[in-house]
Formats: sequence, C-alpha cells, structure tokens
Amino acid sequence: MTSTTAARDLIGQPVTALDTPALWVDLDALEHNIATMAGVCAERGIDWRPHVKASKSPDLAKKLIAGGACGITCAKVSEAEVMADGGVTNILIANEIVGPTKIERLVALADRATLCVAVDDERNLREISAAAARAGVHIDVLVDINVGANRCGVTPSKAPELAELAQELPGIGLRGLMGYEGHVMGMNPEDKEAESARAADTLREAIANLRAAGIEPRVVSGGGTGNYWIASALGALTELQAGGGVLLDQSYNDQMKVPGHRHALFLTAQIVSTAVEGRAIADAGWKSTGMHTGIPKVVEPAGLEVLKLNAEHTILSRDAAAAVEPGDRVTMIPHYSDSTMLLHRQLFAVRAGVVEDVWPIAAAGMLQ
Ligand SMILES: Cc1ncc(COP(=O)(O)O)c(C=O)c1O
Repeated sequence: MTSTTAARDLIGQPVTALDTPALWVDLDALEHNIATMAGVCAERGIDWRPHVKASKSPDLAKKLIAGGACGITCAKVSEAEVMADGGVTNILIANEIVGPTKIERLVALADRATLCVAVDDERNLREISAAAARAGVHIDVLVDINVGANRCGVTPSKAPELAELAQELPGIGLRGLMGYEGHVMGMNPEDKEAESARAADTLREAIANLRAAGIEPRVVSGGGTGNYWIASALGALTELQAGGGVLLDQSYNDQMKVPGHRHALFLTAQIVSTAVEGRAIADAGWKSTGMHTGIPKVVEPAGLEVLKLNAEHTILSRDAAAAVEPGDRVTMIPHYSDSTMLLHRQLFAVRAGVVEDVWPIAAAGMLQ
C-alpha cells in the first residue's frame, strides 16, 4: 500500500487487515496523552506548543491544537512548510535558520504562516531582518539561551544585546527567550530535577538581564517530553515545547520515565518464517523502526521477544509455547518515535482495533 489515497480505502477495516509493516496510533491512548500534556500546561498557567519533529503529520498537529495547543514547534523550515500546507500556521522553528537559501524559504513561509525562530547570532539576526524587510513580512524571534545542553544559545549576559537588536531591526520582532534543556532528558530522576532547576535558573538570569535593560520577554519557551512535568512547574517557562510524548514510545516510557502517559504508537509486522528452531522472523527491520536508541518491544503475541533488527527483518526469539506461523502478526512498540515515523508514508489512526483515519506523514524526509 503506497499511496495514502489507496490506504484510505482501509478506513473502517480492522487493524489486522493492514498490510505490513504498518505503523499505527491508538487514538484513545493518543487522546489521553494529549489531554495529559495540555492539562499539565493549563494547571500551571503556561501555553503548550508541542514539537512535531517526531510525528511529522499535519493531521496529528491539528489534533494537538484541537486538544489545547497554542501552535506547534518545528525543527526545520521544510517541516514548517509542510505544516503550513496542511493548515497549521502558528509555528515556532526552535532552531537557528542560517544561510541565504534557508532564510529566503523562511521569509516566503512568513507570507502564509505566523512564524517565530530561534536566534543566537547577530549576523544571522541581521540577515533574517533584511530578508523579511525586503519581502515585507514579519518574523518574531526568540533569543536562544544555552541552558546547559551546549548545543546552541548564548549566555544570559549576551541576551540583552541580541534582544535590543531584535527590537530595533525592521522585519522582525522580539517575542522573548528560548532555552531547551536537551541534556537533562535521559538523566536519572534526582539529577533530572536538579538540572532542570539549574536550566530554569539560567533562563531566570537571562530574563532578569533583559528586564534590567528595560525589555520584557513576552514568551519564555523550552522543555521536552523527558522533563515537562518538572520544567512546567519551575516558574521560568511561559510556553512548553514538549510534544513527542503524545506518542509515548519506549524511550519516553522506559528511559525518560514520563509519568501518566499510555503507549500510543505501534508497529505491526508479519511473521515470514519460523523455519529456524526457536526463532520467528518478521517483515519489519531497521528500515521500518529506528534502532539507534534501542530495539522494539513485542506487545503480542506472548512468547516472542525481539533479539535484533536487520534491514528488512525482525529477528525474534520464540518460546516453545509460542504457536506462531508464517502469516501471523506481531505488534510491537517502537523504541523511538522520532526515528520511526520518518520511515513511513502514513500513520493509521486506530480506535478499538478499527482504522478510523489515515494520516499522511507528510513531513517525512523534510530535513532542510
Ligand atoms: C528545541 C527542542 N525543543 C523541544 C524538544 C522536545 O521534543 P520532544 O518533546 O518531542 O521530545 C526538542 C527535542 O529534541 C528540541 O530539540
């Protein structure tokens, strides 16, 4: 099944009718996770702007907005273009967008979307301003603060300089600050609490520096699925970027210990061989489910366990009691949704075992 149009014929069919490998989302679990994240933000009085770099589907993004999100966060300009094409037009690109080619694309997109972008460099800020002014569009910026991840972002002491410039230059406006604490996501619970607090302190220092310069940030944006229940309570953020947790894969559940979510993303494969004693082989390898963080976990049937992934094959161990044969199905939880979604063309939206919708993963491959 290659085209989503053809796949739409499967609406109303049981999930067992899908050809394999089939990537699907359990709508009840997804809606539970959306309500959980939106609820935490509402309780803490902050906005929810979920990152869609993992889900890459405008249909899913619209569901996030219907569930309470104020807009979305993207990683790339091309990803944001696909979201705008799909009708999702309030977008933060939480990365530095550098170089004339990308800046021209950003400016063209600003004609049909409300855009905000992260900046940590004066020349980049001036280039975005010049291009936006030439095109007669407006782009907001967040001054990116390095809160300990040592990826991008300036120190709090450099924030006022960039913020002042963003206020002065044409074509752009200062929305506020951003600080993504990516380094804390996989930490153990105590370190995660302490390092999330340290990141919030760094943001507070940047906020204080801006205020000392007479600038009030309207938005302070950050937080990921791995620490959102902590970060949202620390008082520094006005906007939460955590998003991948709506799909809750193994990495978020087992490694990052995200509380209160349900597994929503599943991959169904088909047994193609049981010829080797003690093994079952299925038709989904690392071209169907990313494995740089780990291997998928079998949900059903019992008695199978993933040993490893080849390119096109799942290598499973098979208990003597597991009565599986070629043609049977095996349903697994991918280890990491981020590195799985982008391998597929469509996500089947399933409720109580029946396909309710088919969502193109339209931003798969959008890396520029
Ligand atoms: C800038 C930024 N914000 C937020 C996130 C968190 O995303 P998620 O909640 O999907 O893990 C990430 C993840 O890499 C990120 O790079």
